[in-house]
Amino acid sequence: MSQSPLRLGIAGLGTVGVGVVRIVRKHAKLLEARAGRPIEIAAVSARSRDKDRGVDIAHYAWEDDPVAIARRDDVDVVVELMGGSDGPAKATVETALANGKHVVTANKALLAHHGQDLAEAAEASGAVLRFEAAVAGGIPVVKALTEGLAGNEITRVMGVMNGTCNYILTRMEATHQGYNALFEEAHKLGYLEADPQLDVGGIDAGHKLSLLAAIAFGTRVDFDAVELEGIEQIELRDIEEAAEMGYRIKLLGVAQMTGRGLEQRMSPCLLPAASPLGALEGGTNMVVIEGDMVEQIVLRGPGAGEGPTASAVMGDVIDLARGFRVATFGQPAATLAKAKPARAVVPAPYYIRMELQDKPGAMAKVAAMLGDAGVSIDRMRQHGHKEPTAPVIFVTHKCARSQVDEALERLATNPVVASAPVAIRIEEV
Ligand code: HSE
Repeated sequence: MSQSPLRLGIAGLGTVGVGVVRIVRKHAKLLEARAGRPIEIAAVSARSRDKDRGVDIAHYAWEDDPVAIARRDDVDVVVELMGGSDGPAKATVETALANGKHVVTANKALLAHHGQDLAEAAEASGAVLRFEAAVAGGIPVVKALTEGLAGNEITRVMGVMNGTCNYILTRMEATHQGYNALFEEAHKLGYLEADPQLDVGGIDAGHKLSLLAAIAFGTRVDFDAVELEGIEQIELRDIEEAAEMGYRIKLLGVAQMTGRGLEQRMSPCLLPAASPLGALEGGTNMVVIEGDMVEQIVLRGPGAGEGPTASAVMGDVIDLARGFRVATFGQPAATLAKAKPARAVVPAPYYIRMELQDKPGAMAKVAAMLGDAGVSIDRMRQHGHKEPTAPVIFVTHKCARSQVDEALERLATNPVVASAPVAIRIEEV
């Protein structure tokens, strides 16, 4: 007896939506064999019906309003691919869940801001809410944490999860061009989000980290507690200095449960160039998961783009077609704890760059300010001297971020320091 098809309603026909349409067509037989039933598209919605997308959507019912997709009787699963933390995406997902329809989404901003409420709404109506495509594109990291590694106590999750930032940073190193030139290049290649701050400000990657932290530590998503720092302050000389010392600069996310609470940070870090994370090139993503039983798992792959992101969407869709049910963040929403946020408490060495007035005693004053904040100097580097100021790099011994912040505050207000000092954590991953 043939099984009834699973009927999708797709809200949003941008790059990822078109990718999902292509997979459903191209792999119809393969999907049916794996899911045990056909997977079909019943209805679609997007901003413009007539736009040429390179796929024929004439056979699918059309809705101008995406929320109407979530109300259709012939839709079993709403695939939300519009993006945005609020507005139509939120209304569509809420309506779908309230109507007991399963939801598959790639929307990290929506879940980072409303994940707990949506997980509760899904459970209240018996629907399933899945979001593999929201984190690290084609890498099945949500499934890895929720399913394959569910027998572990997770100790730490780390990742380079914004391909655009990694592209800019690795191209700065390869081409010896500054941040602004590579930002423009990324823009021309269409890599940047409509609001580039989401990428270069670390927000997009911070959203992803907050979702992984919720699953890893059984806590409520708390994006507001992520310490965020973007890559705009990174200069070519930082990348070159780091390379000379055997490091590369990456926008690194780290989430770990400490004695003082949940630490979540997304910031540029110096990583050993030979480590898997340090060696990561271009737009590729990498997630490193550490658990008490497995020690370390490294997942690497494409973090964005039509094929990889649509692949992640379809992994969730096939699960639903198979009847597989799992709580949004891997355990019932009511059991997710409210974690106490902790600032980076684990001490680390820091790279501190500043521009000094080239005057007698300037260096002594800087050394004293660092010492007064409890920051001990390990190494100092100085080259590229341009009168009347001199660039200076300090590498510190391990210290707390709070001590570095105190030192930066003292340095920034002292007239011997010509420009705002920049500190980058050195992470021995
Ligand atoms: N803009 C993201 C990136 C992909 O560059 O990795 C979507 O989250």
